[in-house]
Amino acid sequence: MQKQYGRIIGWGAYVPEKIVTNYDLEKTVDTSHEWIVQRTGIHQRHIAAPHETNATMSVEAARQALHKANLAAADLDLIIVATTTGDHLTPAVSSQVQHMLGATDVPAFVLSNGCTGFLYALTTAQQFISSGVYQNILVIGAELLSRYVDWTDRNTCVLFGDAAGAFVLQATEEACGVLGFDLGSDGSGSQHIIAHAAGSAEPINATTFDEGRHFIRMNGREVFKFATRILGTTSQRALTQAQLSLNDIDCIVPHQANLRIIQAAARSMNLPMERFLVKVHKYANTSAASIPVAICDGLASGEIKLDDRLLLVSFGSGLTWASAVLQMAPITEFAYAVAKTASPEVAELVSSNGFTH
Ligand code: UT7
Repeated sequence: MQKQYGRIIGWGAYVPEKIVTNYDLEKTVDTSHEWIVQRTGIHQRHIAAPHETNATMSVEAARQALHKANLAAADLDLIIVATTTGDHLTPAVSSQVQHMLGATDVPAFVLSNGCTGFLYALTTAQQFISSGVYQNILVIGAELLSRYVDWTDRNTCVLFGDAAGAFVLQATEEACGVLGFDLGSDGSGSQHIIAHAAGSAEPINATTFDEGRHFIRMNGREVFKFATRILGTTSQRALTQAQLSLNDIDCIVPHQANLRIIQAAARSMNLPMERFLVKVHKYANTSAASIPVAICDGLASGEIKLDDRLLLVSFGSGLTWASAVLQMAPITEFAYAVAKTASPEVAELVSSNGFTH
């Protein structure tokens, strides 16, 4: 069998209608619009309405992605939902999503890895396609963090938003999809982003509830240091695996947590900020949804083109990190080989002459 790649044939994003601005938060916690913008770059976040759930948001994003892919839910071979904020502890929200989509009997599972979840799920989907097991896979990144945030804790409540993003991958022999990736984990930093009493180690009881130990708590400074340390390193590893360099990348899509973290990554990679897609001002940190939502927004605004080669890079709880080189549309083996070895100018010429389709 010839090598199989997972082409992104559909994408979709859903953000709840309700917008909460920094000015809104000024009225409820001791913070200011200026502080939030200066320290994070966030201006607003979308917050789910009471009737919305992780499953309903996931399904909205998935329906758009399937529509774009011109695929029926029943054509799917697998559904992966990257999330840490599913509707219930059990069953996994992926089965609800499968049922609501009408993807009868399609296998579905949750991949729970915080902010890096979507890239872990994308690279997992790629393995099922590379091995020839599945043809069509739906990968969703969805979070409803507003229900896990302590709205009296200014250290965390200003940072997060709700959203869902989805990709449909389809097997093809043409070189595209995930061309290289890097995943990693360092559990010694597990205390830095943690909801203490939301698992089996510390079951929720009256005391943990009163102390708010089921909410997400964060040591922001430590996460910040970790993120600025790891983003350049993991990006380089994914590029090396793809046998590409930063010159071969059209756009870098980092996890949208904090503008200052993205700026620090740009400095450490010696790149101007224009190379990075920034959407954190609109959506805040939507964890596993942040990268697919940013890509959908970038495609809609024209900041990302359909034949772009993207570098996706993320960090988050665990602590974990992940990066992937993602070729949106297929490129011929010839164009890929030329683009790999040639100067940026030649690569550009190859691309503008239509070899990328
Ligand atoms: O997806 C991964 C999830 N996590 C992250 O991405 C978080 C990464 N870390 C960060 O984004 C930043 O560390 C934060 C935005 C969370 C905090 O920014 P910082 O520049 O690291 O501030 P800090 O934690 O050093 O706090 C500086 C001061 C403190 O006051 P004192 O102790 O100096 O008097 C905080 O209490 O700012 C205070 N502060 C606030 N002030 C106004 C913390 N949150 C707020 C707030 N409004 N919302």
